[in-house]
Amino acid sequence: MPVAVAPSILLGDFARLDHEITWLNASAADYIHCDIMDGVFVPNISFGMPVLEAIQRHATKPLDVHLMIVQPERYLEQFKALGAHILTVHFEACTHLHRTLQAIRALGMRPGIALNPHTPVHLLSDVLPEADLVCLMSVNPGFGGQAFIPRTLTKVQELAKLRTSLGCSTLIEVDGGVGLNNAASLIAAGADVLVAGSSVFKAADPTRAVLELKALG
Ligand code: DX5
Ligand code: ZN
Repeated sequence: MPVAVAPSILLGDFARLDHEITWLNASAADYIHCDIMDGVFVPNISFGMPVLEAIQRHATKPLDVHLMIVQPERYLEQFKALGAHILTVHFEACTHLHRTLQAIRALGMRPGIALNPHTPVHLLSDVLPEADLVCLMSVNPGFGGQAFIPRTLTKVQELAKLRTSLGCSTLIEVDGGVGLNNAASLIAAGADVLVAGSSVFKAADPTRAVLELKALG
């Protein structure tokens, strides 16, 4: 399966959102990654419903919505209405993760689980079959532009082994500090979806940056 690339709109220019969505629509990007932060689960506040609504109105690519919020189960219907294709909640933010993943699927979205850097992959063994995607955080969530945590590479390998042993086809996504310098080894380890913020939006030619990442897979 070729690697999928999900540029993170967090690193885009919000004063030119129509421009950002227009080039993303025309690019080789597979998803638009939307980072929702509440200032409680993570020490930053990004954007919320009205901005996501504007993105949805213009985007022709599926939205990969990453919720960095506490009690995400309170807002599942709203994110469905706002066009989320994949809806990812944090393992660390869900008391009843199994129920939340099932509720996401029942609403017609693809459920994802995000793991903070400190959370071991083996904790997913009882819930992996309920998820279509696992997002391994390769930075501490909250900000774009941080350095990749090298240990994530081993976590990708561990997760690839776990999904094989459970007979699941869960996608492995890596989020944070991903770029041309580490993408090839992440793909070799088993990554299926690469989230790319700075490495795409800060590139001289973002369209080309997406293509270069895609070419590795
Ligand atoms: C971090 C976010 C990431 C981030 C990626 O909390 O979840 O999606 O925006 O940006 P880069 O690629 O710059 O680390
Ligand atoms: Zn993210």
